[in-house]
Amino acid sequence: MVTTDARAGQISVVDDPFDEKRLSGGHHGDMPFMIRRADPSEWEAYRSIRLRSLFDEPDAYESDYETEAGLGPDRWKRRLADAATFLAFDDDHAVIGTATGIWTGDDDTVLVVGMYVAPLARGRGCARQMLDAIAHLASSLQRKRLVLGVADSNTRAARLYRWYGFVDTGRRRQLHRDSDITEIELAFPLPTEQATEDRR
Ligand SMILES: CC(C)(COP(=O)(O)OP(=O)(O)OC[C@H]1O[C@@H](n2cnc3c(N)ncnc32)[C@H](O)[C@@H]1OP(=O)(O)O)[C@@H](O)C(=O)NCCC(=O)NCCS
Repeated sequence: MVTTDARAGQISVVDDPFDEKRLSGGHHGDMPFMIRRADPSEWEAYRSIRLRSLFDEPDAYESDYETEAGLGPDRWKRRLADAATFLAFDDDHAVIGTATGIWTGDDDTVLVVGMYVAPLARGRGCARQMLDAIAHLASSLQRKRLVLGVADSNTRAARLYRWYGFVDTGRRRQLHRDSDITEIELAFPLPTEQATEDRR
């Protein structure tokens, strides 16, 4: 099971109730990553992987490298304090991935943003495990769904999300930064506590 220390956001993946796919065979080559919620004091590690994501994959995000490279320490710390940002670490304790859950005004929904896995770590289940971590925290706080936007040209990310269980809400929007990029909205219904109990 996933155990969560809600205060620290520490996640230990032992046997994940959100991941029937993995339990039923999973994705070839998956490996367990250390995934945990970032504390505001870790803003420099977060800044580093976030800027890398914007630099390496400019079309995947609404924001851009130049804008965020100019943000000061207080903005980075506030981001970590105001949302649930997870970091993924490799065996050498290097940060190789990040994803953030934002608690929206809608009491039922957590918005997933900023998903990124460094190229060398891709295809091994890191993004899936970060989604598990956000899903578990959101579910434990009684949220009913995860929602995210993915560029229609981003087939790899869309494949991951659809495989995970996200479905198309039918909503579309153009990115403010580049109106040639259309973002597709996907939603994932979180298992209720009862459904999770029933599966045990
Ligand atoms: C998209 C991204 C986050 C995926 O990270 P990842 O750690 O490689 O993802 P995972 O290994 O957890 O899972 C994705 C893979 O699992 C695959 N997968 C999922 N279910 C599977 C199954 N049942 N059988 C086989 N493969 C499966 C996905 O399709 C994908 O594999 P593929 O692209 O090799 O086909 C990463 O590629 C990335 O950072 N891309 C650039 C930034 C980006 O696009 N971010 C998303 C913004 S919305």
